[in-house]
Amino acid sequence: MTSVPTDPNRPSTPPVVVAVDGTSGSGKSSTCRAVADRLGLRYLDTGAMYRAVTWWMLDNDVDVHDAGAVAARAGAPDLVSGTDPLQPTIAVDGVDVSVEIRSDAVNAAVSPVSAVPAVRERLVALQRDLIGTGGIVVEGRDIGSVVWPQAEVKVYLTADPAARAARRAAENGGADLTATQESLLARDAIDSSRATAPLTRVDGAVHIDSTHRTLDEVVGLVVDLVDAVRSSSGAS
Ligand code: DC
Repeated sequence: MTSVPTDPNRPSTPPVVVAVDGTSGSGKSSTCRAVADRLGLRYLDTGAMYRAVTWWMLDNDVDVHDAGAVAARAGAPDLVSGTDPLQPTIAVDGVDVSVEIRSDAVNAAVSPVSAVPAVRERLVALQRDLIGTGGIVVEGRDIGSVVWPQAEVKVYLTADPAARAARRAAENGGADLTATQESLLARDAIDSSRATAPLTRVDGAVHIDSTHRTLDEVVGLVVDLVDAVRSSSGAS
């Protein structure tokens, strides 16, 4: 990703929290990283945290479809998330698993693991600690609804399933389009219908459909929202 320098003339303002929720493959990661880089903010990928816990469960032979078994081990993995938008990292028990968490096995298991309340409780607490005093762009499914409802900027990012599948397949080195779309839709269905913290557009979230927009256009829209909040909060 190209690094866009932080504008030295940009006024210094109270640390903002930008919550970006939305479906898989809607462009959340690319958008959030670019927005954070441009505005000099940190970046947190909460999906990577759910993926890392899922990777650990698979690596430790926990049956990911047994919610009780997953809940019993939810506190076991030690997770460390790096928040540099140019080089986000995720380590489990001291080992970086940034590549491993994008595997087909993790894709297939992450939604059932994410639906387990004990997993969510633990990760939401970690996410709130990381957000801390703000100055961060956070992407996920429940950031504006559960993790940080007080976020100054809330975005709900979507795109048509075909566009999302095409992007994900390209990211994964030309993976099969139909299989990728089926995997995305299966995850959407579980993520949107689970009992705890389902994916939903909250009041106050600005809906951006990225289907027919370039990454730069979407980034520009989100930066404009942050600028609007900053200027209405009295900064000059
Ligand atoms: O954003 P992603 O596709 O990497 O997320 C992977 C999975 O993690 C997704 O299927 C749902 C879950 N997730 C979640 O339940 N809550 C979040 N805040 C972020 C992700």
